[in-house]
Amino acid sequence: MRAAAAKNLVRLLILVEVVVGLAGPGAAALSMDYYGMSCPFAEMVVMSVVNQAVMDDPTLAAGLLRLHFHDCFVQGCDASVLIDSTPGNTAEKDALANKSLRGYEVIDRIKQILEMQCPGVVSCADILALAARDAVNMAGGPYYGVPVGRRDGTRSNAADTIALPAPTLNATTLIQMFGSHGFTTQDMVALSGGHTLGVAHCASFKNRLATETTTLDASLASSLSSTCGAGGDGATATFDRTSNWFDGVYFRELQRRRGLLTSDQTLFESPETQRMVNMFAMNQAYFFFAFQQGMLKMGQLDLKEGTLGEVRTSCRLVN
Ligand code: HEM
Repeated sequence: MRAAAAKNLVRLLILVEVVVGLAGPGAAALSMDYYGMSCPFAEMVVMSVVNQAVMDDPTLAAGLLRLHFHDCFVQGCDASVLIDSTPGNTAEKDALANKSLRGYEVIDRIKQILEMQCPGVVSCADILALAARDAVNMAGGPYYGVPVGRRDGTRSNAADTIALPAPTLNATTLIQMFGSHGFTTQDMVALSGGHTLGVAHCASFKNRLATETTTLDASLASSLSSTCGAGGDGATATFDRTSNWFDGVYFRELQRRRGLLTSDQTLFESPETQRMVNMFAMNQAYFFFAFQQGMLKMGQLDLKEGTLGEVRTSCRLVN
């Protein structure tokens, strides 16, 4: 009798965990309502800080989206990109590929408020995923549900950023690289559409000016040459004409050979991906749909389980 009651209690507890999303520290599965009881206003706090930050500086939407991507592709979505270097360790954020990442202060502000409201509850990795979603939405892009419950990692090493794609990659290599993380070719092309926001430095695209004359629009080539000639590697150019606005213009620019990076223009030049570029250029709603699908997958890369993860008190420091 007692044993049966105990069994029923266990069943009930499991059900509550699954339904309410109160999965404990060992759980890797994410849920939409993970903080429903423990920090009910978490999503609202993230959204209001991001909205304010992007209103004050519209270019920050790009920075926040890229932070989440660079987090997830290196050791999974565990906020390892936010950890500061120490005397004995050069962290990911100080690797060359991450030098131009932006938006750290926005994440710090969110974390500070959440630590006051519900200490030790909301992970920095979840804050990054939510902030990226809100930034995209603030810039006119889609709003999509972000399942939460990620745990923060304890390792951040500059050498690991080798996992990030280089701007000189061609479509075949990008398909392979993204494919190794479980992304389809369509996911990869849609996620590259993240370049509808933001800028790149000359160091990232100057290779094209001399070598890719047939796939780079002549007037863009000449304006980029003068930008880089005057400002050097530190000068910037926008990925598309509407760089603070999340839209399909990026893909339409690729059709006109006005992509900025080799890895952008290759998507139109390669028969493996051209069809998708054309589709997204023609149908923005379809791009938004595919982008959301890609972000959902990206946000669940290599999640930390149990003792492998923690909820950091400061996003910059391991507990
Ligand atoms: C497909 C492979 C990708 C490559 C090779 C790549 C490479 C780059 C490079 C080189 C920059 C400019 C860095 C600089 O010069 O300062 C950049 C910027 C950016 N990337 Fe990517 N990226 C890729 C995919 C993605 C994805 C999947 C996203 C998000 C979904 C993304 C979001 C961004 C954003 C928003 C910026 C602008 C950042 C800013 O203005 O601060 N990228 N990317």
